[in-house]
Amino acid sequence: MPTPFYITTPIYYVNAKPHLGHTYTTIAADCAKRFHAMSGGETFFLTGTDEHGDKIVKAAQQQSVSPKTYADQISKLFFDLWPKLNISYDHFIRTTDPDHISIVTQILQKIFDAGDIYFSEYEGLYCFGCERFYTERELVDGKCPDHGTKPEIIKESNYFFKMSRYQAWLIDHIKKNPDFIQPERYRNEALAFLREPLEDLCISRPKSRLEWGITLPFDENYVTYVWFDALINYISALGYPDHEKFKKFWPAAQHIVAKDILKPHGIYWPIMLKAAGIDIYKHLHVHGYWNIDETKMSKSLGNVVDPGYLLSTYGTDAIRFFLMREMVFGLDSSFSETTLIERINSDLANDLGNLFSRVLAMFHKYFNGQVPSVAAEIRNGQKADLMDDAYSTIDEFKQAMEDFAFHKAIHAIWALISKMNKYVVSTAPWELAKNENEKDRLGAVIYNLLEGLRVIAGLIYPIMPETSHTMNSHLGQKDKTFFTLEEIKRWGAISPGENLPKPVTLFPRIDPKKLNQKKSSGTEQKQKVPKPSLGLKPEISFEEVLKLDLRVATVIHAEKIPKANKLLKLEVNLGGEKRTIVAGIAKSYTPEEITGKKIIVLANLKPAKLMGVRSEGMLLAAVTDDACSVVTLDNPLPSGTPVK
Ligand code: ME8
Ligand code: MG
Repeated sequence: MPTPFYITTPIYYVNAKPHLGHTYTTIAADCAKRFHAMSGGETFFLTGTDEHGDKIVKAAQQQSVSPKTYADQISKLFFDLWPKLNISYDHFIRTTDPDHISIVTQILQKIFDAGDIYFSEYEGLYCFGCERFYTERELVDGKCPDHGTKPEIIKESNYFFKMSRYQAWLIDHIKKNPDFIQPERYRNEALAFLREPLEDLCISRPKSRLEWGITLPFDENYVTYVWFDALINYISALGYPDHEKFKKFWPAAQHIVAKDILKPHGIYWPIMLKAAGIDIYKHLHVHGYWNIDETKMSKSLGNVVDPGYLLSTYGTDAIRFFLMREMVFGLDSSFSETTLIERINSDLANDLGNLFSRVLAMFHKYFNGQVPSVAAEIRNGQKADLMDDAYSTIDEFKQAMEDFAFHKAIHAIWALISKMNKYVVSTAPWELAKNENEKDRLGAVIYNLLEGLRVIAGLIYPIMPETSHTMNSHLGQKDKTFFTLEEIKRWGAISPGENLPKPVTLFPRIDPKKLNQKKSSGTEQKQKVPKPSLGLKPEISFEEVLKLDLRVATVIHAEKIPKANKLLKLEVNLGGEKRTIVAGIAKSYTPEEITGKKIIVLANLKPAKLMGVRSEGMLLAAVTDDACSVVTLDNPLPSGTPVK
């Protein structure tokens, strides 16, 4: 009996729209699920969104909406994207779901009753991006390694989870179960982490600072730390503790995450489960990052690739294929659209697409679209060319998929494609067709090629379900959405005498030049081309832009403001009118440096007091965490000139 299979993705934060990184993990989970379904086992696939915590509150505030409204909007973007990528999840969980909240509450109470939660005061370095405290040692140049920002020092009374109590147990568990965390480099990383004493985990946030969370059952002045809430989704979605689904699937649980969240999944989560008296999950699969120019693609850095654009330009299966083919699971990969186009053209249009249309074209030409009758020895594989190659491909594919080595699984299939292409060359059906005496041999060659295509169509199902279906239906295998490995491994499944439809083009070649033309012409295409997703604010109308009165101004005097080390007080000439402006540029400019510069000022901003000084406008500057650069004119026009 095949065992059940339970696969999860991280539940994604709803502080920004989905990007290619989320897409990768979710497609990987989908491939794993579809593969296990092919192995004949029952499967359950969970994804969803992580909706509590500081980050979400901050993102919602920026948009001037409530956290729940904001969470609803962004969660829906994930929810709507997955069907477009053919993600076959069984449940989409949101941490704002009432069932989830009630199970988190139950588990907190259970761990509290067991004596593993205590109250204490703590001061530490906190990264709001990661929603966690960092030790000095973990920081890079004093900054969060993930977000590149300086953590803030936070001191407050909170509830703590006694993780330290379970440190020895966890080390032992990881050592005894070498495949608990995979690939091995991440297992080693977790063990390295556990060589230092494990600090207890702060699992609460005072409501005075953060209200958007699940209230602690034992202290209504606090909400639960977002990670403590989020991790529990993996069991609340199954109806812990009593539901059948929990009993069936939890013992088979496998999580997929990227290396950014190895620590919560590899350390906090098993300990939380242990403390709550729940069996721990079976495997954690950790993959690397999609980078852009060596830097992690991330919403906080704003260098993200929009999956919606890729989908509408290249199609679902091509994107699924590319992501699974290009990344070695566990290592980082660089994303580039040029490589994507190259892969589509070489692997899909050329190798797979050409083989498919070439074989079917010959089959239609020589047999008029009717499957030739071949000797029984060929149909049952005793004397079939290609069968041994196809069967060993199935075995290699199976092993690689079980290991989450998706690129290897694809590699195995493409090796078969290459063998089949060679077979076409070496058997030269066009020569056989010239000789009436070779009709049987020609029939056998074509039949074997059709069977080879059938094996390929069956195996690519987890990666490219639509292409699998198209190919199968051209090979007379149209009754099912997918075939089990056992069914695929039955040479002779295609029935002689059956009429098969004419081939279609599986993947048209992409001409990068035409693509660029399309991008820059035609309104329909224009709409599809994404603007680089920079975490931009919502669109505004032209009328709204016209409300801004931007003017050229000259700085005539500047001075520091006592006790405000970031601020300078500027006197500016706005063309016949003097204004005082307080600007947060003191870290990058001395008063002398800024004096005399022609700058741009938002002149109709409502005045406001800053550090006791009335500021009558605002200057334009590019700003990072620790530097700024004031916008100046390279061709100095008179003060007061409007900026349009
Ligand atoms: O961490 N490359 O959510 P999140 C590859 N809510 N994968 C990437 C990626 C990249 N550049 N960027 C993101 C959270 N990902 C928590 C999880 S789970 C109980 C709570 C993927 O929105 C990858 O799977 O920051 C990574 O682990 C995840 O998105 C982080 O998503
Ligand atoms: Mg993140």
